[in-house]
Amino acid sequence: MLATTVGSIPLPCCIYNASGPKTNSIEALIKIGNTSAGAILSKSATLNAQDGNELPRFINKIDLGSNYCNGSMNSEGLPNQGIDYYINDDALLQIKKCNKPYIVSLSGLTLNDNLEMLNRIFSCPFDTINGIELNLACPNIVNKPVIAYDFDQLDEVLNAISKLINATKKITPPLGIKLAPYFDPSHFTKAIEIIIKYSVVKYIVTTNTIGNAMFIDAELECAAIAPRNGLGGLGGGYIKHTALANVYMLYKELVSSGRTDIDIVGVGGVHCGLDAFELILCGARAVQLGTCHWTETGDCFERVSSELKIIMQNKGYNSIEDFRGNLKPYIKGSKQISKMSMNSNLKSKDKDDIPNTLLFVILPIFILFVLIIFPYISFSIDFVGLRNHYFISTCK
Ligand code: DHB
Repeated sequence: MLATTVGSIPLPCCIYNASGPKTNSIEALIKIGNTSAGAILSKSATLNAQDGNELPRFINKIDLGSNYCNGSMNSEGLPNQGIDYYINDDALLQIKKCNKPYIVSLSGLTLNDNLEMLNRIFSCPFDTINGIELNLACPNIVNKPVIAYDFDQLDEVLNAISKLINATKKITPPLGIKLAPYFDPSHFTKAIEIIIKYSVVKYIVTTNTIGNAMFIDAELECAAIAPRNGLGGLGGGYIKHTALANVYMLYKELVSSGRTDIDIVGVGGVHCGLDAFELILCGARAVQLGTCHWTETGDCFERVSSELKIIMQNKGYNSIEDFRGNLKPYIKGSKQISKMSMNSNLKSKDKDDIPNTLLFVILPIFILFVLIIFPYISFSIDFVGLRNHYFISTCK
């Protein structure tokens, strides 16, 4: 029911991991291989191993309200073990045993590094690496602006990579590019105008984190993470709606340019089957889990997949192609937002429950408190101690 293809890579399930959390080691990748994820995607590799930015460099489980704990921010600076670690014979052999497509993410510090890493991938045995995700949108490297925001550089990089692939005399794994979120309608058009010039680009992954966000510890009056003056990429639930819009707009641009052969993978704030359903409705052929995988265990792939299947069954859809890209414009009377209450593991109050809760729970407790308990303890409370200690409220 959830089978799909991305850039012609057949995936048994359209839900798989995002590059980033829990993807740094081969052990972590094998763990993903032992879940229901439809593919195994590596950490973004650089040519040589590197430690990344100073610690602390991330926050997760940020409470977005009503105990909905899927906000995140990171400024990791590409800690990874170097490309050879992810594609050496032993690693490839171990990953092959998981029987899932293996996609290698690349985020070279220079164009030459990316070309060199691609060459190394092309010399791996056939069918050990099933796809490439070239990350053109990491926001966390000091002095390296995001390529996806610099359209001249985007063109230049794709041109060089295209030449390399076209000159390679063997079948190369399908190439996808990971983009940054765009916020201006003209940027969707411009990005697609460039991308469609290069037939080597088989799919687009959108979106990366929203770069250069900030959290502040108001008690200490300081930035909440150490690197880059406290700036990091915003992820999780904060960015779901930006991800939806990016998938939708890029899909629309691809349709109007007649290039529906370029697939879209949606990523950003997916935490439940409904989130995945919405991204697919906007045009995504597969959906990645990043913050959710970070916060939960690898069981999230099974959970989100089963939730998506239930939604599809209820709507009478047999495959994601039955509804992919079919988002309709506004219909009068439509509900403004999807109910979070469809999330199985995230607590969120249905608005309709609030009057009842008020009447039968909060009001009696309040009366009890005012009449009996308050007089006994009234002068012994340390009001100052009750101040919120958690300036950034995260969940346990
Ligand atoms: C990192 C962050 C990203 O958003 C990304 O796509 C790759 C790497 C990082 O900081 O390590």
